[in-house]
Amino acid sequence: MPTRIAPVLLLGLALCSHAAEAPKRPQAAASVSSPGNVLRVEIGFEEDRALWSLSRLGVPLIKPSRLGFLLRDTEKLDRNLMLADSSTRSFDETWEQPWGESRFVRNHYNELRVRLTEKLKLKRSFDVVFRVYDDGIGFRYEFPDQPQLKDVVIDDELTEFDVAPPATAWWIPAGEWNRYEYLYNRTPLVEVGQVHTPMTIRTADGLHIAFHEAALVDYSSMWLRRVEGQRFRAQLAPAAGGWKVRRTAPFHTPWRTLRVADSAAALYESNLELNLNEPNALGDVSWFVPAKYVGVWWELHLELTTWATGPRHGATTANTRRYIDFAAKHGFRGVLVEGWNTGWDGQWFGNGNDFNFTQSAPGFDLEGLAAYAKQKGVHLVGHHETGGAVSHYENQLGPALDLYGRLGVDVVKTGYVADAGQIERNDGDGVVRREWHDGQWMSRHHLKVVTEAAARHIAINAHEPIKDTGLRRTYPNWVAREGARGMEYNAWGNPPNPPEHEANLVFTRMLSGPMDFTPGILSLQGRGQPLQSTLAKQLALYVVIYSPIQMAADLPEHYEARPDAFQFIKDVPADWSETRVLNGEVGDFVTIARKDRRSENWYLGSLSDEHGRTLSVPLTFLAPGRRYVAEIYRDGDKAHWKDAPFEFAIEKRELTSADVLTVRLAAGGGQAIRFAPKGR
Ligand code: NOJ
Ligand code: CA
Repeated sequence: MPTRIAPVLLLGLALCSHAAEAPKRPQAAASVSSPGNVLRVEIGFEEDRALWSLSRLGVPLIKPSRLGFLLRDTEKLDRNLMLADSSTRSFDETWEQPWGESRFVRNHYNELRVRLTEKLKLKRSFDVVFRVYDDGIGFRYEFPDQPQLKDVVIDDELTEFDVAPPATAWWIPAGEWNRYEYLYNRTPLVEVGQVHTPMTIRTADGLHIAFHEAALVDYSSMWLRRVEGQRFRAQLAPAAGGWKVRRTAPFHTPWRTLRVADSAAALYESNLELNLNEPNALGDVSWFVPAKYVGVWWELHLELTTWATGPRHGATTANTRRYIDFAAKHGFRGVLVEGWNTGWDGQWFGNGNDFNFTQSAPGFDLEGLAAYAKQKGVHLVGHHETGGAVSHYENQLGPALDLYGRLGVDVVKTGYVADAGQIERNDGDGVVRREWHDGQWMSRHHLKVVTEAAARHIAINAHEPIKDTGLRRTYPNWVAREGARGMEYNAWGNPPNPPEHEANLVFTRMLSGPMDFTPGILSLQGRGQPLQSTLAKQLALYVVIYSPIQMAADLPEHYEARPDAFQFIKDVPADWSETRVLNGEVGDFVTIARKDRRSENWYLGSLSDEHGRTLSVPLTFLAPGRRYVAEIYRDGDKAHWKDAPFEFAIEKRELTSADVLTVRLAAGGGQAIRFAPKGR
């Protein structure tokens, strides 16, 4: 059960006792407060425009902000509005995740539904539904069935977010060629341009807000564009047709979400977007097994071998057998092989029309390797790189997934390497259209792949994806994705990921869901450039950067050369029953403890940016009265990401929940701990 409920309720009570002193606000047309009276949404009108606003404990966070749409071939839908109806309801349930950071999730909100109707002319109506939690809000538009607004062509969504308190923001640009793969910027909120979500902000008094969306289905992704001051407007990713979204009513938009918390840690612990998604639509998904995998991958990025056929082809039968043997020996479930199929021999970046998803490259015996793997208790992990030729891929999707289904390949990594806006769409009419990775057409494509895969009991891990909006709740076979700069940038990125990168990711990208970051480069060496990380930090990533599939990304020989550190990677699970963020600041540091779903063991990961630091960590998450053996993998006393990244120590200690641990992190460092109850 969630553990934050009690303090939140207390806050709510405190608010009530001070209610009399709160400044008078103009009468709202409709309003709703969160269950613990922490957040409050109000709907008002100004010049017949509907405005929404948000306050927390009586303090304004979002000033009255516009709602509405710019529609094609018909009048703008945002003026001349009246409140035709409103209703409220409350909801409280606890649901179970098939896999995840925690087993149980509480979904407790108060809802306000308002119907807005035009007073004159077309008299069109739409609903806005607000769900207000103690730790955030979501709202969406619902278009009812009405003859005067049937084919809805959205040229722009006019939703605004006028942020009241001055704030600092962490963000990456949107609408740029490299999709989500940018380093995070930290600037005053008034200096932000056009950004992807999640965007995280912190106010002067330490309040944290993360802007994102939930349940992005058959709609374009929302970027946020600063209009003036701290006022932002939704900017939908465009469609090849020139509009942003095209739908037939009745339909609803995704939820526009704001997580709101006193600390970065609490921001991460919120389950807002998952809660706003529909329940599991797939039924029993026990066929997906959270697990770790290895594969023919890092060697490709180091250019030791190639995706293309030839003398250095990585995906040979012999090389794959080597990885299968390694996986079997060390207990990894999966073996990914990239470059296994035909189509890699030319220029495939942004040009995937040569890919064939059922034909193996010469020298790669798919059937034989699948059988060899099976005999060793290992599963091949499939790979479908599209090079952005998405219609070409869709045309082969059924047979491609059938093949994998038949061979027991139950996780498939997909890939969309093409510049943003350059996804190739072919409707069979002789015209090649170019779509965005995160537009409506791709939101449909991804769900097509995910549902087709689910029908064959296959899980999907998309690279160069559309962003995560919590759809894993509805489709639990959509297990992970990339959608940020991952480990590959340490192979060839210019610049590589800086020491603060992961501390940025945790409180931005990771708020959206699991990431296939591919940690564990114990050699700390990219292609001619070192990683900006200590050895211990590579281990901490397995706990800090959540995914139900975790790669041990380094070469087998590098792991065999470091059996001491490798032991943690072998031990750490990929599925959890509980998660606690013990401390953290955006872009600076974080410590997360997670409990193994299948044992009584706890794991802790802590990491820092370019500064060394000591953190005092009470072990109150451990079961009281029990003794634990803690295997501590830490930075050596002289460790530093720049000069001494391999300085490393392993210690064993006996600890209990009453202990307070001093976690010492080197500059660019980290720490990983396995706690096992004694005598088990
Ligand atoms: C980019 C992916 O992120 C990477 O993991 C993969 O190896 C290449 N594309 C090739 O598909
Ligand atoms: Ca990538």
